[in-house]
Amino acid sequence: MRLLAIETSCDETAAAVVESDWTVRSSVVASQAQAHARYGGVVPELAARMHLERLGGVVEQALEPIAGGLRGVDGIAVTRGPGLVGCLAVGVSYAQGLALATGLPLVGVNHMTGHVLAAKLAEPDLEPPFVALVVSGGHTDLIHYRADDDVALMGATRDDAAGEAFDKVARMLGLAYPGGPEIDRVARSGDPGRYRLPRPLLPDFNFSFSGLKTAVLYLLRGLDPTDPKVVADVAAGFRLAVVETLVAQLEAAAESAGASQVVVAGGVASNGLLRETVRERFAKVARVVIPAPSLCTDNAAMIGAAGLVRSGRRGFDRGPLDAEPGLRAYAA
Ligand code: KG4
Ligand code: ZN
Repeated sequence: MRLLAIETSCDETAAAVVESDWTVRSSVVASQAQAHARYGGVVPELAARMHLERLGGVVEQALEPIAGGLRGVDGIAVTRGPGLVGCLAVGVSYAQGLALATGLPLVGVNHMTGHVLAAKLAEPDLEPPFVALVVSGGHTDLIHYRADDDVALMGATRDDAAGEAFDKVARMLGLAYPGGPEIDRVARSGDPGRYRLPRPLLPDFNFSFSGLKTAVLYLLRGLDPTDPKVVADVAAGFRLAVVETLVAQLEAAAESAGASQVVVAGGVASNGLLRETVRERFAKVARVVIPAPSLCTDNAAMIGAAGLVRSGRRGFDRGPLDAEPGLRAYAA
């Protein structure tokens, strides 16, 4: 089985070709980050229009290494939610048009399940059960992935998602959008011990990042935010506080579930310190799978992986497919 996968839920226009042995034949990501940067965040209408302009070319490029192009694939997978409604609609209608024109079967997948199953592309012999920390711009979830049709949400954020907190604090520090990679970069030369920030630990594996964000805001009032040393030290202190919070809850969740395998996924999983810290803490207690950074931030290869699992388990979708912006995370 070879799937063409399409992802347009937010601000990356992406297409990929993935095989049932978990090989990624091609993966093309056209990021719109630059276009949104001057507005300080994703502008939904602009994002949808850019998907419309770029998706055809991105799909063509993803099919380039495949002999016979579209005739060389067996099905199409597309993100149907969660995400921005106008953006999802571009991908879903494009995929439906393609399926109709070619007779290829179509499967709609959950974007968040895609983030988790990117782990299969990283290490194909990974089988459930595992505990996963899924950290993106919109979600901060701890899940117990017992089987492909049995995923339990153990905890989630009560307010801001981890990625959202990175983006907002970056803005306070005068760093560009998206802020996560920027904070990660400048934090490397900062002293994480200079400003001690709170580690918000909620019961039941839940998270809250709005207090930490406010603590940064108050801290900056007494400092010079144009001083690069201040920016680097605050970024380092903030990054450490977020990472320690995430890892503490992941450890508690893994222990409570008796997990011998843990997965870290989503855009924030490309954070250097988070990757190092998880590997270090679990070195002796569990297998750790963290996909390469290019498989953590939004991409279509992960949608192909989720499409393989879903179509293998339930077959392809019949009838028209709708974009579902509010689709609950991990729902099959
Ligand atoms: O998964 P993703 O690409 O898109 C969503 O589904 O939301 O995640 C994007 C989020 C953004 O908030 C971005 O700032 C954050 O992931 N991010 C990072 C890093 N790279 C991306 N956060 C911290 N450190 C990074 N290196
Ligand atoms: Zn995502």
